[in-house]
Amino acid sequence: MLRVCVCVSGGGTNLQAIMDAIDSGRITNTQIVRVISNNKGAFALERARSKGIDAVAVSPKDYEDRELFNEALTRCVDEAGPDLIVLAGFLVVLPMMIIKKYEGRIINIHPSLIPSFCGKGFYGLRVHEAALERGVKVTGATVHFVDEGTDTGPIILQKAVEVLPDDTPKTLQQRVMEQAEWQILPQAIHMIANGQIK
Ligand code: GAR
Repeated sequence: MLRVCVCVSGGGTNLQAIMDAIDSGRITNTQIVRVISNNKGAFALERARSKGIDAVAVSPKDYEDRELFNEALTRCVDEAGPDLIVLAGFLVVLPMMIIKKYEGRIINIHPSLIPSFCGKGFYGLRVHEAALERGVKVTGATVHFVDEGTDTGPIILQKAVEVLPDDTPKTLQQRVMEQAEWQILPQAIHMIANGQIK
């Protein structure tokens, strides 16, 4: 069984997609051992708890400085003893100590086709605003391994999604989630759990 720790900041629809895929057997050999959020009010925590999954908030607001927060976050991850860390809409820069310790065992979902609309400052709705501003006709989502950079690690899966003429950032975000993110993130976890990715 692959022990997965999922890190979230907000609504948690990607977390939901992972939990649903485990229930339906689209992800096998996998167990979510802990969900961690930097945001106490994240609905994602409710989603996890309603499934009986251990869900913990580690908020920077509770720590005097970033260093102490980073240490607490690292401890919280370590306690769960994960084989894989999944960043599913985690809008916090991951501490270097976690990146180093779990090298090759952290994946992230990003709502664009990397290397477009990624890197520092590109997260959530901003990614889709930038895509619409640039006038691209195709966008999508990417699952990649996490390294020291922002959205720079090796790409595992990508899926393209059409941009429609009347799209707003919100309608585009929703389509990218439905047609790409909620499919390729569970798929990547399944592949890792079943030794299909090195
Ligand atoms: C998702 O669209 C995810 O791709 C994005 O945040 C959203 C979280 O939604 N992540 C990033 O932008 C990371 N750079 P969710 O909480 O409903 O899964």
